[in-house]
Amino acid sequence: MTDNLKKSLLKYKAPGIFEETRYEKLHNVIVQSSTEGSKLIANSIALLIKEKHDQNEMCVLGLATGSSPLSVYRELVRLHNEEGLSFKNVISFNLDEYYPLVKEDVQSYHYFMYSNLFDHIDIKPENINIPNGEVALDQVRKSCIAYDKKIKSLGGIDLQILGIGRTGHIGFNEPGSHLNSQTRTITLDHLTRFDAAPAFQGIENVPRKAITMGIQTILNAKRVLLMAWGSYKAEIIQKAIEGEISNLIPTTYLQHHKNTTIILDNEAASELTRIKTPWLVTSCEWNEANRSKAILWLCETTAKSILKLTDKDYNQHGMSDLLAQHGSAYDLNIEMFNKLQRSISGWPGGKPSADDKYRPERAQPSSKRIIIFSPHPDDDVISMGGTFDRLVSQGHEVHIAYQTSGNIAVSDQDALKYLEVTSDFIDTKEDASMVELKKAFDAVNPQKPAPSSICNLKASIRKRESLGATRYIGIPDSQVHFMNLPFYETGMITKNPVSPVDIDLTVALIEKIKPHQIYAAGDLADPHGTHRVCLDVVFESLQILKSKKFMDDCWVWLYRGAWHEWDVHEIEMAVPMSPDQVLRKRKAIFYHQSQKDGVMFQGNDHREFWVRAEERNASTAEKYQALGLAEYAAIEAFKRYFY
Ligand code: F6R
Repeated sequence: MTDNLKKSLLKYKAPGIFEETRYEKLHNVIVQSSTEGSKLIANSIALLIKEKHDQNEMCVLGLATGSSPLSVYRELVRLHNEEGLSFKNVISFNLDEYYPLVKEDVQSYHYFMYSNLFDHIDIKPENINIPNGEVALDQVRKSCIAYDKKIKSLGGIDLQILGIGRTGHIGFNEPGSHLNSQTRTITLDHLTRFDAAPAFQGIENVPRKAITMGIQTILNAKRVLLMAWGSYKAEIIQKAIEGEISNLIPTTYLQHHKNTTIILDNEAASELTRIKTPWLVTSCEWNEANRSKAILWLCETTAKSILKLTDKDYNQHGMSDLLAQHGSAYDLNIEMFNKLQRSISGWPGGKPSADDKYRPERAQPSSKRIIIFSPHPDDDVISMGGTFDRLVSQGHEVHIAYQTSGNIAVSDQDALKYLEVTSDFIDTKEDASMVELKKAFDAVNPQKPAPSSICNLKASIRKRESLGATRYIGIPDSQVHFMNLPFYETGMITKNPVSPVDIDLTVALIEKIKPHQIYAAGDLADPHGTHRVCLDVVFESLQILKSKKFMDDCWVWLYRGAWHEWDVHEIEMAVPMSPDQVLRKRKAIFYHQSQKDGVMFQGNDHREFWVRAEERNASTAEKYQALGLAEYAAIEAFKRYFY
């Protein structure tokens, strides 16, 4: 990020309309990571608080909840603890609250704000304002009017921070909200309730209504910063920034506001025209990555395979300068075709004694030590079961590292079943730990973190299922490592921040095995989700280890997690699978029985994991075929990571 961009984020100055932003109607800056973006936002909040303090004024902040601002609040707490930032001159107004919901409920935004921010800073309790989810139905309207009035009486909000929902909501202003809306109750969209379902342990527990600041209330703020992290938000961000103002996407109303900046990480920005197809916007730097991206896009747009693209196709689709630089379509096509052809390899650990000049992996050493990091105990087989199987059958020493216990994803009913099976064989009334478990199940309360006895039982179920799968593929139990990283062990959906213990455990495992290859889940969809946290733990450990001699021989490959696949232009190793290999992979996934049929955290895709995996791998194979390459039943895809 350039200094100018930083400045424009910290202190907004209307940006000019540049050629590359001609599709865009909202000022935005793109940062390398959500951590970088969160720090910038926290710094701009801190700067404003200090400025106001120096002028003897109160600073009125509009605050949001949800996963997006979590790291902003963490940074603010750090600034308070370590750099003496005081919040004594801050008055805060939160955007929204579920209705009805009591303040003590762990899912309430009251609870969220106190546990993530207010309990850790010196803001005066009387200066905290959050819409009241407990107020009686006939009093709600009055309390909403009073909320807006109070904001006005204090001179309005100086700085409002916002997240964005997948419906395009800001606050809880769902599609259909009016430009002039004030603070009010609103019925939540199904998609919003669906997204909140895991936290509430099921959609049936998510309140149907909420109280939210209105669009007008938000637009009255003097400065607005909206943040979005992860590819999960990319589509709605593109619509909000490039679309016309419409009540169907309430975020577009921010186009009326003259002092708004959107802060995006690379993944959330990935659907913007200037990022996705830069050649359509301005002259583009034709490096290898952009060439591949553009040529494969051209194939898709013209429905042609690579070798059938003509000069005319290039010229008609904004790529004439690429042609001018590289001669003819013929040369460009051949280069692209060879590149893709060379990404295909049935030897993911390298082909012993073969010429490896154009192969994705090295031939030597012919037998490699390998660690597959799997965020949950099943991502290994779901996302790279075919490759895992090949690596083992081709004689490599494969270790699996299950990073978290995955206990949260086992249902109570499933866990109880195991307890009951046990009680058919031993007298559970005589066994203290069994008695404790039974008591814990009798007292289950979804509003409270699950007790450790139940978490341990659930972790054990996932461990045993995993060992079933790894034994089926053929590795000894001694090569299966259950890391149980502590950041995950909260008994709740909300996890702890990563601690040095998580990193130490990962560093120690890599150091012990000294691998030639590491595989990790490169899931970039949700930066606060477990997959992304697990990836960051691996990345940080690699940074710590990279000066060690053995790391010179260690290559890192990223698979893409259960939800997404790499775009073809990103794939550097494509491992094909025969129909029989697909069936073996399916069987390995079936060992994870607690994750079959209506699992707890399915996300917005209702297919079972094995179906998703098979359809994803078949679709990659179809894409290769459509580009003019050989026809395979399925392909697993990887991208190399350079640390
Ligand atoms: C939160 C709020 C919502 C969220 C939005 C995104 O107070 O009003 O608009 O900002 O739903 O949520 P996350 O950040 O969890 O993706």
